[in-house]
Amino acid sequence: MEIRNRFSVSARRMGRSIIRELLKLANKPEIISFAGGLPSPGTFPAAELSGICTDILTKTPHVSLQYSATEGLSELRELLIAFLKDRGLVVKMEELLVTTASQQSLDLLGKIFIDRGDTVIVENPSYLGAISAFKAYGVRFTTIDMDNEGLITTDLKKALAELKKSAGGDAEYYQNMPKFIYTIPDFQNPSGVTMSLKRRLELLELAEEYDLVIIEDVPYRWLRYEGKEVPLISALDKGRRVVNLFTFSKILSPGMRLGWVTAAPMIIDKLVQAKQGTDLCTSAFSQAIAAEYIKRGLLDPGIEANIKFYRDKLAIMIGALEEYMPRLPGLKWIVPEGGLFLWIMLPRNMDADEMFKRAIDHNVAYVIGSAFFPNGGGHNTMRLNFSYPSDEEIVEGIRRLAVLIKEQV
Ligand SMILES: Cc1ncc(COP(=O)(O)O)c(C=O)c1O
Repeated sequence: MEIRNRFSVSARRMGRSIIRELLKLANKPEIISFAGGLPSPGTFPAAELSGICTDILTKTPHVSLQYSATEGLSELRELLIAFLKDRGLVVKMEELLVTTASQQSLDLLGKIFIDRGDTVIVENPSYLGAISAFKAYGVRFTTIDMDNEGLITTDLKKALAELKKSAGGDAEYYQNMPKFIYTIPDFQNPSGVTMSLKRRLELLELAEEYDLVIIEDVPYRWLRYEGKEVPLISALDKGRRVVNLFTFSKILSPGMRLGWVTAAPMIIDKLVQAKQGTDLCTSAFSQAIAAEYIKRGLLDPGIEANIKFYRDKLAIMIGALEEYMPRLPGLKWIVPEGGLFLWIMLPRNMDADEMFKRAIDHNVAYVIGSAFFPNGGGHNTMRLNFSYPSDEEIVEGIRRLAVLIKEQV
């Protein structure tokens, strides 16, 4: 049977994630991989969760083994509202939806906002999972470069003025202008950059001027190792135009597949409708575990422990880079203030894509930076993850990478 021509246009646009394909190559035990984005299993509170599971299965199996409301378990939603309030963001029950982690939130946002041929604005580079999720809905990307203060708002201003010129009159304006701006303002994946307060305010101002939705994705926000916290864009927003994506993946466990979205009630309502067609509800079991974990006061100390653990790993990676990397004009890296990733820029004439196969021969792996540029470019960049490899592997892996770079020169 010829199945290919039965696939939908969307399915034909899909491809496997380059990162997952590269990870397969990097699967040999002798390879030190900086390619994944996995939290360290050492941070998982397995013993605590084991006790919680026994308790909820004994005391409330009628809740944890049942379907939940699509919006999520009320108890968990109330706890999440309190969590956000402690961190400067006030939301109401009707403004919060529990999701099957942020990747689902991205897909649902694509589902409710994007028609084939629509434009969305993303940072250049941006998170590959978001690019793939939006791409499936037939989107075109307008990319805005970043510097060490995050998305360059003067470039955004120019791009929006251009887009407006070709958007047509009032009737077509909302169909033709970008459906949203997607940003990861804290320790961005992949670049590690944090958007400054000034840029956040400028971004909001532009979104107000052009009446655009902002999607603010902050999976790493609570993993800050140094520097002062910058307010959430949503906390600065008076017009309720920011949709926030949160997740337990980097502060508790990605295996629980649990996250939440906050947005204006009308957007949440639409997301609920879209989610009903996707999975009816997020695992009540995961939700009940997370609720109990928070109620027992374990979340805040858990986050603190993760911060300490990852801060040390980042310091080890930076130390190794300083020790081993050759001093080449144009070779530099961005030291992130948090998160899980460090971004390396090679001299312009070097190609990290081409170098990848040789890296595997040297038993070290990274993610090619070009994978994160939806409209091409970034061939001299790479992303390194420091959360998963052991301390010794970080040092040895950077040494191998430095040897490879010297050879390439
Ligand atoms: C920026 C960003 N958004 C969303 C996700 C998806 O995370 P999850 O679905 O585990 O919540 C990730 C995962 O790495 C990410 O880096």
